[in-house]
Amino acid sequence: RTRRPVVAGNWKMNGLAASVSELKGIMAGAKAVSGKAELLVCPPATLVASFAKTAKGSTVHIGGQTCYSEASGAFTGEISAEMLADAGATHVIVGHSERRTIFKEKDADVQKKALAARRAGLISIVCVGETKEQREADRATIIVGQQLTGSLPEGAKAANLIVAYEPVWAIGTGLTPTPADIAEMHNFIRERLAARFKAEGEEVRILYGGSVKASNAAELMAVRNVDGALVGGASLKADDFLGIANVY
Ligand code: G3H
Repeated sequence: RTRRPVVAGNWKMNGLAASVSELKGIMAGAKAVSGKAELLVCPPATLVASFAKTAKGSTVHIGGQTCYSEASGAFTGEISAEMLADAGATHVIVGHSERRTIFKEKDADVQKKALAARRAGLISIVCVGETKEQREADRATIIVGQQLTGSLPEGAKAANLIVAYEPVWAIGTGLTPTPADIAEMHNFIRERLAARFKAEGEEVRILYGGSVKASNAAELMAVRNVDGALVGGASLKADDFLGIANVY
């Protein structure tokens, strides 16, 4: 297989200047997995520049957790993809379920952010995933299909797009889908990517996210079309995060 796995940590709204010690711990352990998987840490925006400086020259990439669609202007409080790139980020997560739910981002907003990321030379990690109610109503693939159609930017390439499947009910709950359910969804996402982006769609990495930890990572990462993980809680401590990355 040619898709190089990605293990990405989404720190969410956690981390202060002193948390650089965890980044350094991740960098120290990263050598063992470099070559097998790419490591990415997405700290809060306040830490992107300092983390990027610390991680410079290492195999650990630094990313943002969201961006605004415009490059600059009167958008108080927002941060552009260009600013993240200027701060040393190489990636940005867009459309995380917390952004969609709490901050009311729609598919069209997410698509604009992914396009902005590309404009700024960043790799976007576009998140999709169904709620518990949607899964119980057997609508999981319909919902994820709609999110893919509406959120992915036209003309995306494997070099600038990563997709993350995060069932909302698995985020921060300790619950995960069965490997069979993950396989079904990731195969579905792969088919959609291939239909839309042809050969490039075969190369786009599809990450699984939702309660990934060192003890379940080997099983989850072994699923076909799972090309890595988007990790929340277990990415905050270097040892936990490396325990996941070390399955590769
Ligand atoms: O972006 C990460 C996900 O929301 C997963 O979070 O690993 O804490 O369940 P979690």
